[in-house]
Amino acid sequence: MVSSNTAPMSETRDHDELFPGSPKGRDDVILEVRNLRKYFPIKSRSILFSKVIGHIKAVDGIDLQIFRGEILGLVGESGCGKSTLSKTIVGLEEPTTGQVLLNGADIHHPESREQFMQMRRSIQMVFQDPYNSLNPRRLVKDTLREPLLIHNIEPKRQEEIVLEMLKKVGLEEYHALRYPHEFSGGQRQRIGLARALIMQPDLIIADEPVSALDVSVQASILNLMQELQEEFNVSMIFIAHDLSVVKHVSNRVAVMYLGRIVEIGPTDEVFDTPAHPYTVSLLSAIPFPDQDIKKKKIILEGDVPSPVNLPTGCRFAPRCYKAQERCHQEEPVLEEIRNNVWAACFYPESEKVIFLEMEDEQ
Ligand SMILES: Nc1ncnc2c1ncn2[C@@H]1O[C@H](COP(=O)(O)OP(=O)(O)O)[C@@H](O)[C@H]1O
Ligand code: SF4
Ligand SMILES: [Mg+2]
Repeated sequence: MVSSNTAPMSETRDHDELFPGSPKGRDDVILEVRNLRKYFPIKSRSILFSKVIGHIKAVDGIDLQIFRGEILGLVGESGCGKSTLSKTIVGLEEPTTGQVLLNGADIHHPESREQFMQMRRSIQMVFQDPYNSLNPRRLVKDTLREPLLIHNIEPKRQEEIVLEMLKKVGLEEYHALRYPHEFSGGQRQRIGLARALIMQPDLIIADEPVSALDVSVQASILNLMQELQEEFNVSMIFIAHDLSVVKHVSNRVAVMYLGRIVEIGPTDEVFDTPAHPYTVSLLSAIPFPDQDIKKKKIILEGDVPSPVNLPTGCRFAPRCYKAQERCHQEEPVLEEIRNNVWAACFYPESEKVIFLEMEDEQ
């Protein structure tokens, strides 16, 4: 299924230049995100006239491919544009520029109702707060049946599928006749997963699916997600602000800062030898399980700057421990640093950063 909306630029530009960080030689692409931007207009507060006085550049030029059966971890501090990117990918937000192609078809410009329905079925979201994403007045069985109804699945099969899915996510048949408030947070996220998987999608975008849960239940939900991902061979974009979560579930990781991907590569490589100072800073904030590795705390000063007035040059420069003159004048683009690890930085780390304990410095 190839959409006529597909831009011909892939023929004219080099693959690496077009999709930095994509594994080389794979052709089982599920999702292609091309030069995606999402700007929210800021309007003046006049009673008579409403004028656009600026833009919130939440997503500012993302190129990305997702392959069949892979989990891409997407990380970055709050406000970096992760949720806006995922909403724009699934079609909940219209892009300002760019395209999202799911199995070659343009998500935002379906060619027919059939194609629209097919795409709705093929891409699903799991949200951070399972309670808010479930209808409180609906029995679980009705929530789970809804997509089956929309897609005209035979009524007799609907009930069977609902009960099968409940079992797959570790719930019991009797749970079908309960309301969301009767479940714990972890159980609700199991229902969210069942709802996302019930139509056997090609891609799930999970936006911080465990960050609202107690630490004690996070691991069981993460394990379940991995099991289900393997069983269904579904691709996944797994969003988290906690890097340790992403490390355990994803094959590749993309680090986002102020609307852009600043580092992308195989998870092991990025965690072992991060190239971008922002990734190094994020990693320095998580505990190392390996006692032999000592740790240097690189304190990330301040919050993510406003995506309205972006810093000139490198967006990370005002907070970067390596910033130099050039960083405040030019904006770096993603370049391959090593082994398919790409980073947008003029002075990337090329060797393993040896972290030292804070106490050692004092
Ligand atoms: N609907 C919206 N209208 C205006 N600004 C928005 C909207 N949604 C998100 N933003 C802004 O876009 C930026 C990115 O937000 P978001 O995508 O939620 O980041 P993240 O998920 O990484 O925390 C933030 O500055 C946020 O305030
Ligand atoms: S380009 Fe400069 S400011 Fe930006 S991350 Fe690299 S070293 Fe830091
Ligand atoms: Mg978010």
